[in-house]
Amino acid sequence: MQSDCCIDVADAFAKRFGRAAVAVAVAPGRVNIIGEHTDYNDGFVMPAALDLETRIAFAPRDDGAVRIYSDVVGEEVQFAFESAAREKLPFWALYAWGVGMSLLERGITPSGLDAYVETSVPQGGGLSSSASFEVAVAIACLGDKWTALDKLDLARVARRAENRYVGTQCGIMDQYSIVFGAEGHAVMLDCRSLESRLISFPEAAALVIADTSVRHVLGESGYHERQEECARANSVLSSSLPGVKNLRDVNMPMLEGKKNILGDAVYRRARHVITENARVHEAAAAMTAGDLARLGALMSESHLSLRDDFEVSCRELDVMVESAAGLPGHFGTRMTGGGFGGCTVSLVDKSSAAAFAGALRERYQAAARLQAATTIVRPGGGARLAKPRETGNA
Ligand code: GLA
Repeated sequence: MQSDCCIDVADAFAKRFGRAAVAVAVAPGRVNIIGEHTDYNDGFVMPAALDLETRIAFAPRDDGAVRIYSDVVGEEVQFAFESAAREKLPFWALYAWGVGMSLLERGITPSGLDAYVETSVPQGGGLSSSASFEVAVAIACLGDKWTALDKLDLARVARRAENRYVGTQCGIMDQYSIVFGAEGHAVMLDCRSLESRLISFPEAAALVIADTSVRHVLGESGYHERQEECARANSVLSSSLPGVKNLRDVNMPMLEGKKNILGDAVYRRARHVITENARVHEAAAAMTAGDLARLGALMSESHLSLRDDFEVSCRELDVMVESAAGLPGHFGTRMTGGGFGGCTVSLVDKSSAAAFAGALRERYQAAARLQAATTIVRPGGGARLAKPRETGNA
């Protein structure tokens, strides 16, 4: 995708800080193709890194201070990792501070920095703008030593920043796929073993991301509420079924046997996780076989399960999914990310993608009375450190 909205981040750095950037830390956003709300249940997910990315032009500082300007927010913040007062930092800067703190916990002293941040990842839309920012900050703090940190550790450091220092109890999917993503591939990840394999994304297909333009405030509280409901299901099932550690180990007959003691809502949350894990396996097989019709059908089934059983969709996401149905070249559509607003992802025939996106925007506008922004993407590469003049691949 062309990111002609992007400014040259190294030039912007030089103008702001009066010296040259030494490098640019680049981390993509991610789209989850299938496997939603399964990562924090030790389940399976199949996301892909995007060719939309956060770029941080930076130069180290000797005094340990961090001076970071966000082009997204239009604000500059200055702090030192160890002595920063959390409550004095604006919310967006907590992610950067949290990454430094999480590196310190790992026994690694992050470098002080001057840093200029810009991004083409839509903010708060379910495409992991936060995780993308965290991973890019971690790479900037490590500079040219960033590869000394194992890739899995890099993902863990970024997730820790969000869990402990920002306070969002996200799973590992976002940070993992941003670090391990590979161009033209989806990442099939087992969130228990943290082992993954790359699956080639079919040449004939494209993904269309459509932003509903709504972000419901319920998002974060709803996310944590769902985690608690899954934890309740886990505790009942693991204490009464031998060999069950959590929902990952439960099949539908086992769940049916416990329906009465779980209660309706918790039963449905568990049903979503169990059926979604099965869909991820089937989707991986369909993608490997290039069976776009089957892959798309699984994505559409995933949406229904998220809507009806997990209850994390919203009217606008449902309208977008309904608007996509029946358009030429369309195989399937679902909400992507945590839910309660944000984006949908559609699997489409590559040659129909532009026409599909246009028709989808029109239908959504007519049905929801809202403008949708659409983006045609293919899976992009994982996070990296680039020379200031080598960043323009997006
Ligand atoms: C958010 C979280 C992820 C994952 C998804 C839902 O994106 O950051 O860890 O739980 O929601 O699948």
